Amino acid sequence: MLLQINVILIVILIVILSATNVVCQVAQSLPGCPNKCGNITIPYPFGIGKNCSLSESYEVNCTTLTVAHANFKLLDITLDDSHIHALLPIAYQCYNSTKSINQHQPKIRLSRFLLSSTVNFLTAVGCDARAGLLDVKDKSYISECISRTRCKNLRRSSCFGQGCMQVPLPFSLTQFYIHTQRVTRQVGSWGFNNCTYAFLARKSDYQFKKQDLDNMQNKSFKVTLDWTVGNTSCAAAKKNQSSYVCKENSVCKNSEAIIDEGDPGYNCYCADGYHGNPYLPGGCQDTNECEGPHKVCRYHCVNMNGSYTCPCPVGMRGDGRLSGSGCSYLEAARSAAHLFYIAIGTGPAASFVLTLILYWGLKHRMTIKSREMAFKKNGGLILQKILFEAKQPSNKAKLFAARILEKATNNFHKTNVIGQGGYGTVYKGTLEDNTRVAIKKSKSIDENQIEQFINEVIMLSEVSHPNIVRLLGCCLETQTPLLVYEFVTNKTVYHHLHEKDYVSSMTFERRLNIATQTAKALAHIHSTTQIIHRDVKSPNILLADDYTVKVSDFGISRFIPMDQTHIQTLVHGTLGYIDPEYFRSGILTEKSDVYSFGMVLVELITGRKVFSNDGTESDLGLAMFFVSSLERGCLIQILDDQVKKDGISDHIDYIAKIAKDCIELESKKRPSMEEVKAQLEKLRQSSINSSPGHLLALV
Ligand SMILES: *[C@@H]1O[C@H](CO)[C@@H](O)[C@H](O)[C@H]1NC(C)=O
Ligand SMILES: *[C@@H]1O[C@H](CO)[C@@H](O)[C@H](O)[C@H]1NC(C)=O
Ligand SMILES: *[C@@H]1O[C@H](CO)[C@@H](O)[C@H](O)[C@H]1NC(C)=O
Ligand SMILES: *[C@@H]1O[C@H](CO)[C@@H](O)[C@H](O)[C@H]1NC(C)=O
Ligand SMILES: *[C@@H]1O[C@H](CO)[C@@H](O)[C@H](O)[C@H]1NC(C)=O
Ligand SMILES: *[C@@H]1O[C@H](CO)[C@@H](O)[C@H](O)[C@H]1NC(C)=O
Ligand SMILES: *[C@@H]1O[C@H](CO)[C@@H](O)[C@H](O)[C@H]1NC(C)=O
Ligand SMILES: *[C@@H]1O[C@H](CO)[C@@H](O)[C@H](O)[C@H]1NC(C)=O
Ligand SMILES: *[C@@H]1O[C@H](CO)[C@@H](O)[C@H](O)[C@H]1NC(C)=O
Repeated sequence: MLLQINVILIVILIVILSATNVVCQVAQSLPGCPNKCGNITIPYPFGIGKNCSLSESYEVNCTTLTVAHANFKLLDITLDDSHIHALLPIAYQCYNSTKSINQHQPKIRLSRFLLSSTVNFLTAVGCDARAGLLDVKDKSYISECISRTRCKNLRRSSCFGQGCMQVPLPFSLTQFYIHTQRVTRQVGSWGFNNCTYAFLARKSDYQFKKQDLDNMQNKSFKVTLDWTVGNTSCAAAKKNQSSYVCKENSVCKNSEAIIDEGDPGYNCYCADGYHGNPYLPGGCQDTNECEGPHKVCRYHCVNMNGSYTCPCPVGMRGDGRLSGSGCSYLEAARSAAHLFYIAIGTGPAASFVLTLILYWGLKHRMTIKSREMAFKKNGGLILQKILFEAKQPSNKAKLFAARILEKATNNFHKTNVIGQGGYGTVYKGTLEDNTRVAIKKSKSIDENQIEQFINEVIMLSEVSHPNIVRLLGCCLETQTPLLVYEFVTNKTVYHHLHEKDYVSSMTFERRLNIATQTAKALAHIHSTTQIIHRDVKSPNILLADDYTVKVSDFGISRFIPMDQTHIQTLVHGTLGYIDPEYFRSGILTEKSDVYSFGMVLVELITGRKVFSNDGTESDLGLAMFFVSSLERGCLIQILDDQVKKDGISDHIDYIAKIAKDCIELESKKRPSMEEVKAQLEKLRQSSINSSPGHLLALV
């Protein structure tokens, strides 16, 4: 009984959580008018009832789902491409062996709406069947197509002459009959296909099947219609402002439809940087690009009316847009020096240091050909050092002298190596005050990105979160910067999941804690900085002695150039954990971290490596294997033994559901880290209070 309640509550919770993902729609109708017919949004110039639409031609009848005098059945109205989707009835004619016994040849009235001639096709279905559109006045053919071939032994199921035929429409029609008939005299003597059919449908929507030959009387098909306003071009409409319907912050576009006589009219669209309903006063609202789903700026983002800017950090100049060329110190050398000047205060000391920098720069210009190279390789680092100090009013992050770190690691002795990978090497070390540290030494660093690297280091050193490895500081005196982190003692989640000596310690409870704390760390970084981790994976999730999670390596991976031999060079991340959408498009968003996190969840509950070569099914990629197991209802077969032993099955299912949402192929469908965190925290709460009464805690 309790178990059943539990299941029901989890289902309710999932429904509630998914419902909160729905974005609230702003009203699209005139003030005081209904916004919707059932679940169909009716945007102005359309409207429900008197005085709610631009004119009688746009009045929607919610009972019949028709518009004005047209007789199609409305499905939806769109503003961004000025389309109506609607259902049109089918025409048919049925025969016995001698004559026609039953037919339906509907008259279609589209009022002032136009069939998109490129999308909709006239379709004939039947053997020796003719489909036609007839003029309403004299019933002459405007358009026709014929499926002529006898088709008793139909082999192919394509609409290409055998049993089915489609033709595009010549031009926009507003009133016509749809007509169909048998072409031959042998009307219905085959014993199969007693009827012929004709209809309009979007070419991509209709898939011909052999069963359709006898079974289509009651079908209706979706068509795309173009709608416009006015009966003139934009230029003519603008001359009379009292009848011009596009409101502020919008643009006007002429309709491209071809009609028999007159002008098809025009449409309004919100200008770039605005969204909403261009037909309503104040309808086009500024789009806040800074809070959109895609990150647009490298550093800071400032939203403006109709646009946005991406200022560079203090002391830098350039183009801070993500698509731009980037900010740099080069042009800003003077402002950096200026900053330094202010920081120190006026006086002889400042001019002495400036002279020193200038002298130093000049000296190097003589030895190295490219001034820019020189700046980046050497002088740039010194300036960055100055900036680093200027931006750090508190001593949260330290600049370490190379010699201190050499001493701490016994000159980077190989006995102090605690990790090695494509990126470089991690050493453990002990500072003079006995603090234990981990020092990350990259093989090389992308010189073009060094400024950004410093900036992220500064941002990260300001982050203080119990589940994020503290970045204590860095050393810029070496060829490649060294990063100094707090030392975390108990290996990584990867070790604990995949190495025999550790596995037994990973109870379900502990795995759930790890998942929750990792989600907290990612959610924190996403909400407080613009940094995307880029390489969330179990080897990057470190554990303290009490199994507290410490996520490491935020944002760092991208600054390290990949080996030529590496599987792919443009996209940074680790195979198996990489967001496939990012892999394909190269566009990185916070949702890429959500994907990788989802893979860590899968790894936690299945105990399998995300990418292994051990000859199991998961060789194909754990993501696919997991989703297909889940869909086939055999999740249980791929779970880790420990999880099976001490996890409550509803809780496991709940985590599996979260994981599945996180690894949705389409990043839009994935939840945010904040949402994932909230879901996991609720689950953890309910699993802590494991007494019978706890189940309510989930709701
Ligand atoms: C509206 O509801 C119907 C059935 O209730 C559904 O088939 C249709 O897809 C819905 N339309 C939209 C736009 O959600
Ligand atoms: C529509 O507007 C007209 C004039 O503005 C007014 O006379 C009429 O009563 C209104 N009709 C309704 C149903 O509100
Ligand atoms: C909608 O159409 C029905 C049937 O034609 C009609 O009875 C009704 O009055 C119409 N409603 C409105 C608001 O025009
Ligand atoms: C075909 O239908 C017509 C009219 O309904 C009827 O008169 C005729 O007998 C039918 N022929 C056969 C072969 O059923
Ligand atoms: C087609 O008509 C023939 C006789 O005219 C009849 O025997 C057969 O059952 C009909 N087939 C279908 C699918 O209605
Ligand atoms: C079509 O619908 C009508 C009434 O709704 C029904 O009597 C008839 O059997 C249906 N025909 C087919 C082929 O489904
Ligand atoms: C264009 O629209 C105006 C007002 O809506 C109307 O007076 C005029 O007759 C229309 N012209 C044509 C050619 O339809
Ligand atoms: C401008 O449009 C208004 C409203 O449609 C109409 O009354 C007026 O006659 C038009 N003026 C001209 C110059 O066409
Ligand atoms: C944007 O435009 C609105 C209305 O035109 C104005 O009130 C607001 O101050 C503007 N905001 C900015 C940031 O320019």
